[in-house]
Amino acid sequence: MAEQPRADLLSPDTHGARTHTCGALRHDDTGEGVTLKGWVDTRRDHGGLVFIDLRDRYGLTQVVFSPQDNQDAYEAAGRLRREDVISVRGTVRPRGDEAVNPNLATGTIEVKGDSLAVLNTAETPPFVVSAHEERQMDTGEALRLKHRYLDLRRPALQDNLTLRHRLYQTTRRYFDDHDFLEVETPVLMKSTPEGARDFLVPSRLHPGRFYALPQSPQTYKQLLMVGGLDRYVQIVKCFRDEDLRADRQPEFTQIDVEMTFATEEQVYDLTEGLMADLWADLEDTTLETPFPRMTYAEALRTYGTDKPDTRFGMELHDVSDCFAGSGFRVFESIVDGGGDIVALRVPGEGDRNRAQMDRLEDYVTEEIGAAGLIYFQLPSDGSEMTQNLSTDALPKEYGRAAAEQVGATAGDLVLTLAGDPPTVYEQAGDLRLYMGEETGARPDPRSGEDQFLWVTDFPLLEYDEDAGRYVSMHHPFTAPQPDDLDHLEDDPDDVQARAYDLVLNGNEIGGGSIRIHTRETQQRVFDVLGIDADEAQERFGFLLDAFRYGAPPHGGIALGLDRLVMLLAGADSLRDVIAFPKNQSGQEPMVQSPDWVDPEQLETLALRLDLPPDVEPPAHVARRSRLAS
Ligand code: AMO
Repeated sequence: MAEQPRADLLSPDTHGARTHTCGALRHDDTGEGVTLKGWVDTRRDHGGLVFIDLRDRYGLTQVVFSPQDNQDAYEAAGRLRREDVISVRGTVRPRGDEAVNPNLATGTIEVKGDSLAVLNTAETPPFVVSAHEERQMDTGEALRLKHRYLDLRRPALQDNLTLRHRLYQTTRRYFDDHDFLEVETPVLMKSTPEGARDFLVPSRLHPGRFYALPQSPQTYKQLLMVGGLDRYVQIVKCFRDEDLRADRQPEFTQIDVEMTFATEEQVYDLTEGLMADLWADLEDTTLETPFPRMTYAEALRTYGTDKPDTRFGMELHDVSDCFAGSGFRVFESIVDGGGDIVALRVPGEGDRNRAQMDRLEDYVTEEIGAAGLIYFQLPSDGSEMTQNLSTDALPKEYGRAAAEQVGATAGDLVLTLAGDPPTVYEQAGDLRLYMGEETGARPDPRSGEDQFLWVTDFPLLEYDEDAGRYVSMHHPFTAPQPDDLDHLEDDPDDVQARAYDLVLNGNEIGGGSIRIHTRETQQRVFDVLGIDADEAQERFGFLLDAFRYGAPPHGGIALGLDRLVMLLAGADSLRDVIAFPKNQSGQEPMVQSPDWVDPEQLETLALRLDLPPDVEPPAHVARRSRLAS
């Protein structure tokens, strides 16, 4: 039901500009006449006084209205509600000792309200917005996103956006200091493959043709190097039509970097310098550089992922040899078929009861997708090891050997999965992360414990079973290791790339490579990818042509800015560090995008809808479409 507008409360603002923000006043300001403006965070009436917590981006200030000071203001204040917008003129005075709030920057003072102007009223908001975190209701995200302008008033979100702003500033300063030029590249471009689907924009002037929104400015930044710009940086929006997760948005921001004559070491050095500056400016901590490095092969073997969180143990071990001759058919047939038995040690969890272990087995099969879990428990009292297989099926000495190999001692739990690599390692990696979270061994995102890691020596290509051909592990512009070039065509699996990823606490925050800069090598890589000369000329002719005219060697990196802010803020989702994010299904619930468009707009673009039967357009679109066709 519509609420009463309370229009009679409104009054003209005769106070002029604010003199202070709501976070500014301190004890030293006592006696000063001030004008504050902001939102009503809370109102409390007691003892013939009205207390208002007035809020803006900078903080909260308590304002007190009494009938003795101004009867009209006191009465109007008594009718204020949450989120009303007011202007207050008053006098700063110290709070009594018992009323001092040590948790508030302005907590030693209050403002005696001499005059009140109500600039706008607010209907009851759909959820509580308050600087007092303890008053936040546990409101669902859908409602918050629908009223994002209200959610944005929460200090937690404003802090994240402030952090993001500071990250832009430090980043720009850093690159400026290192002679980089910030250059804007087109948003309406031609599709560049980065592994995701493109968002397309139909062209009105060229019916039937489409621009693509950049998945990244990859080809343009390479062309800038051909153009002699030498050092390029851009804080740039990228667009990828892919399935969303907490760490993926369809539009996101990169710190995109490219350097002429770059070596891997220069890229590592430059990136580490940026991270050190960011951590110094935003976290007030000194990062240890250079960052550790690990090859892709080692990351997969030891952590089951190319983005390992190395802050906690539980590393993976290949214990296949421990079970040789065990007679346990499941393991033996997997190992005979080229598979591995992979084990991890979970310290201090050897006393779990049967029900807990049953739940873990269910998780492993249902959520991780492994065929089964074989485990060995070493009770903390030193009693005999137990296992979830009868000793007829698997005599205990084999489990003991595996436990010994992974370094398990009394009180530990040893988990094993069996299967073909790399899948079994990836599953064991998922299990490791799950056990890390479940046992608390994996540091919390808010712990401030940060571990950077370079992952290096990626394969250039991977075989895509569905497509029946090789695809690039990074993108097709990545240079192969020079020593591997001679077997690019004969043994593509064995070609390493000059590519690297930057990982922070188990999150991929950046990736890059030294690029191909000759036409011949680029065409050879295209050939292996199944892109013949004609198709290459059609899709990437601009780049191949540019390589004819003295293209210098070059390389670079792109860092995921949103992910960096998310990790710096200790947030769980990218949505917490983006002002207007998309939800899990790629929609923006507030403006309701994507949306239907008028059939006339489609007609102008020479487009007609051919919707799947289960998609029903709204009546006006359906009616007009019928008229149009
Ligand atoms: P890449 O595809 O690895 O490389 O992207 C670089 C970084 O961008 C971030 N990122 C994302 N962040 C949020 N939502 C997404 N959907 C998303 N996709 C990627 C990640 C990732 O590490 N052109 C190359 C870079 C280069 O080679 O220089 C590229 O875009 O943090």
